[in-house]
Amino acid sequence: MDKCLITLVFSVLMIGGCLARVVTVSSGPLIRVEGQPVSIRCDVSEYMGPREQDFEWEMSRDAKAQRIKIISTFDSGYSHASLSKRVASGDISVVRLKDNEVELKIAEVKSVDAGFFYCQTPSTDSVISGNYEAQVQLIVIPNTLKVSPQTPPSVIPEGSDITLSCNVTRELTQSTYLSVTWSLKKGGTSEEILTFGPQGGVVTGQKYTRRYTDGGIRLVPGKNGVFELVISRVTTSDEGIYECNGTEWTHEKGGKWIKIVESKREMGTVAVTPTGQSLSVTSSSASSPSSTSMLLSPGDTLTLLCSVAVDNLPSLALEVTWLADGRDIITMERSGVVISNTSSSGTPAKRGEASLERTGAETYRLAVRGVSGEDEGAYACRIRAFVEKGGRSAGGGGRWHMAAEKMSSPVTVKVSQIKPSFSLTLEPILSPQMTAEPTELACHVTNITHLPTGGRLGVTWKHTTLPGIGDEPQDSNPIGTLDGQGNLLPGPTYSDRLKSGVMSLSRVQPNTFKLQFLRSQEIDMGEYACTVSAWTISSQGDMVKTAEYESSPLTVRWDTKRPSLNVVAKRTREASVGGATFEMNCTVSTENLGEAGYSVLIQSQDNLGSTTRTIMTLSPDNVVQHGGATDPNRRDSLVLAKSGPTEFRFRLAGVQLSDRGFYWCDITAWTKQQPGQAWTKATSSESNKVRIDFQENGPSFAIDIQSDSSTVYPWQTAKMKCSLSVSGSSPKTDDLAYEVRWFFTRLRGGATTTELASVDRFGVVKKEDRNSSSDISIERDDTHTYMLNIHGTQDSDSGEYHCIATPWYLSASTGAWTQAGELTSSRIFLTVRFAVWESLKLPLLYGVSASIGVGLFSLVLGLVCAQCCCRNTTHTPRSRNKLMDLEMD
Ligand SMILES: *[C@@H]1O[C@H](CO)[C@@H](O)[C@H](O)[C@H]1NC(C)=O
Ligand SMILES: *[C@@H]1O[C@H](CO)[C@@H](O)[C@H](O)[C@H]1NC(C)=O
Ligand SMILES: *[C@@H]1O[C@H](CO)[C@@H](O)[C@H](O)[C@H]1NC(C)=O
Ligand SMILES: *[C@@H]1O[C@H](CO)[C@@H](O)[C@H](O)[C@H]1NC(C)=O
Ligand SMILES: *[C@@H]1O[C@H](CO)[C@@H](O)[C@H](O)[C@H]1NC(C)=O
Ligand SMILES: *[C@@H]1O[C@H](CO)[C@@H](O)[C@H](O)[C@H]1NC(C)=O
Repeated sequence: MDKCLITLVFSVLMIGGCLARVVTVSSGPLIRVEGQPVSIRCDVSEYMGPREQDFEWEMSRDAKAQRIKIISTFDSGYSHASLSKRVASGDISVVRLKDNEVELKIAEVKSVDAGFFYCQTPSTDSVISGNYEAQVQLIVIPNTLKVSPQTPPSVIPEGSDITLSCNVTRELTQSTYLSVTWSLKKGGTSEEILTFGPQGGVVTGQKYTRRYTDGGIRLVPGKNGVFELVISRVTTSDEGIYECNGTEWTHEKGGKWIKIVESKREMGTVAVTPTGQSLSVTSSSASSPSSTSMLLSPGDTLTLLCSVAVDNLPSLALEVTWLADGRDIITMERSGVVISNTSSSGTPAKRGEASLERTGAETYRLAVRGVSGEDEGAYACRIRAFVEKGGRSAGGGGRWHMAAEKMSSPVTVKVSQIKPSFSLTLEPILSPQMTAEPTELACHVTNITHLPTGGRLGVTWKHTTLPGIGDEPQDSNPIGTLDGQGNLLPGPTYSDRLKSGVMSLSRVQPNTFKLQFLRSQEIDMGEYACTVSAWTISSQGDMVKTAEYESSPLTVRWDTKRPSLNVVAKRTREASVGGATFEMNCTVSTENLGEAGYSVLIQSQDNLGSTTRTIMTLSPDNVVQHGGATDPNRRDSLVLAKSGPTEFRFRLAGVQLSDRGFYWCDITAWTKQQPGQAWTKATSSESNKVRIDFQENGPSFAIDIQSDSSTVYPWQTAKMKCSLSVSGSSPKTDDLAYEVRWFFTRLRGGATTTELASVDRFGVVKKEDRNSSSDISIERDDTHTYMLNIHGTQDSDSGEYHCIATPWYLSASTGAWTQAGELTSSRIFLTVRFAVWESLKLPLLYGVSASIGVGLFSLVLGLVCAQCCCRNTTHTPRSRNKLMDLEMD
């Protein structure tokens, strides 16, 4: 204290001030590990003299022991003999750091080196002032640091965690501290990962800071010196040689941490297997795991398993997708959410209902319920393995990256289309024996299997013509179809018949189809077959034909005998005398003809070979008509009627001689293709001929015509006598009468015959209108003689005259008036002299005005002349009276 004060005073007095030397070493005590280097620094300040100071080091084992000289900066022989070897070898050295600072270095400290170390500086001061020596204690502890790392697995899968365990211990004698450092050596360079200690703090390597803060690297301080570093979700970049470095520290006064010993050990080489390398995916059928294809029936459930094998499964998040023919069906996302891909194509295909679930740690099961043909395909399972980059604990969704993607080999799934099957039996219900009879065929569907619910049956009927006789080819025609929905689709050649209802296709019982013809035609003969198809509703809602079977053919044929008709006429009432009733019965018998209608013609002829007259007709609809040859007056006497199903009656009442002849029925059979249609002629036939023949043993008559003169002058009266004569059993004149008619045939200007007048059998005279100025009268001279008088003939009366007479007589046998055959006379010619008339006419015209005298004379002469010439005609009034008498009868 006083020294300092003195120094201070001295210094103040001296130039500059008070200088007092200060020598310092670190305060210590220094704890060092045996065998490790030791360096002790010493510096001096506040000194005078040269700038460069010298230093001397001494030591003593303990404070009381004798000092031993170690080394000096200026005296090479300074060292104590016990240390000179170590100094010479450089084990102990002193290094000048500055002019006023040196460092004592012991390369490998020995336990005997423990003690007190003194640093001295020889004085260069003008005044001894301050301290010239400093001391520090050195404690040498044995090297008890042990670093024993646990060897990590040499191969680990990507994404898994690696635990790096290192046992760092030392025996605690002095207060020393430990730190542990993990590092990764790749190639030549070692990268520090993390250091723990010595103060309990953590220092991360530059490249690992982010990962450490994300939680990807965790430190687990263990007991008994074990330190564990866990690196999560390793990737291939984590491959290399891991090292563990244990360090022992001492904490010296002044806050300085001194590393006193360290030990770095290789833990081992770690290889990271990429996920893709270890990931394997297999898909298999749940029922037969070994097979790569499977066959299902519609409606079955498809069950497939996706098995995943990967080294580090727990550290991965998997996305599982099932694909069929490359199309996604269903996906389980890595979150576990299952998404079905229902709208994979434009149209909503009716696929089975898919589900996906995790049935084990490594298995995912796909189930598709109610499979159909749409579900066929190659099924594969795709796995995408994701690794989370960030730490799991580092809140929220970490950053994921896909580490691997693998697809299984496919399993081929087939859905068998079991087609409906059934048997067909085609049988005739009604077989026609002849044309126009009905035909009915039934097509029975039996033993139906695999017809799905909602399935329908449709039928198509086919007709094939019979094998041709020559080279005529057989011709097949569709008759019509009843489709799955019951719609009738007629074949082109049968369309009209089907539409009109003469034939029909129907479904009569659930599984029986019928084909019916009301009236079979010859063209309907042939082979028939029914083709039955099964229809199901497709997934699109359409009717789809799934199966079709054709029956064996059934031949329908019958004898094609032509329809024939036989008509027998039979006289049922005989007219043996005139006026009696004739009746005829015509019976029809048919062959090869179905139901028919008949038309009847009653025909007659006078003699075999003479012309045929139609008396009456009866239509198939029972309409009666009279033939043109029938006297309208006699229509009431004629009857034609249907008297039985195949029987017709003809009656003729009051037969007359003119009715004699042959009578027969001409019958035609008519058929209808269908009710309401027009009659079609089938066949016709004539009956035998029935004769009306009665012998009238009456008189026979003759006729004759005469005239007095064939030439008359105009204005004269012409007379013509029609004489009848009777022979044989001549009746009494009262029982006899004639009907007489006169005819005139003008020869000039066209030979036309006109009736002039007639007298009937009752004496009634009838005169026809004539175009002539002449007059006509008929007088009956006696029963058999009739006279025609033409009064005041004209030129136009020239021509031929004849008479026709019909005798009537009271038949002795029947007591009835009977008509005898008509008699026609020969013709006589009458000429009215035209030239005389003309020569008389002109003198008359010119003579009247010429001479009244000649006129008067002519008048007198004319009267006299007329009195003489016309005497013969005086009978006329009497004849008239006679005719009047006849009329009175
Ligand atoms: C660590 O090493 C020390 C010393 O060798 C030993 O006593 C201790 O049991 C070891 N710890 C473990 C966990 O092995
Ligand atoms: C051992 O760790 C300590 C402390 O981190 C460090 O200073 C030293 O350089 C390391 N030693 C080796 C050989 O890496
Ligand atoms: C569904 O499937 C289609 C076709 O494969 C595909 O394009 C689509 O991406 C899929 N959708 C989903 C959600 O998987
Ligand atoms: C229907 O099946 C039964 C039994 O299998 C068989 O005996 C019968 O002949 C079959 N019927 C037809 C028409 O095939
Ligand atoms: C018509 O003639 C047939 C035989 O030809 C006979 O069986 C039937 O009885 C006759 N009918 C009448 C009404 O006489
Ligand atoms: C009569 O003759 C006249 C002329 O000559 C003629 O116009 C008339 O039609 C005739 N009548 C008959 C009934 O011939």
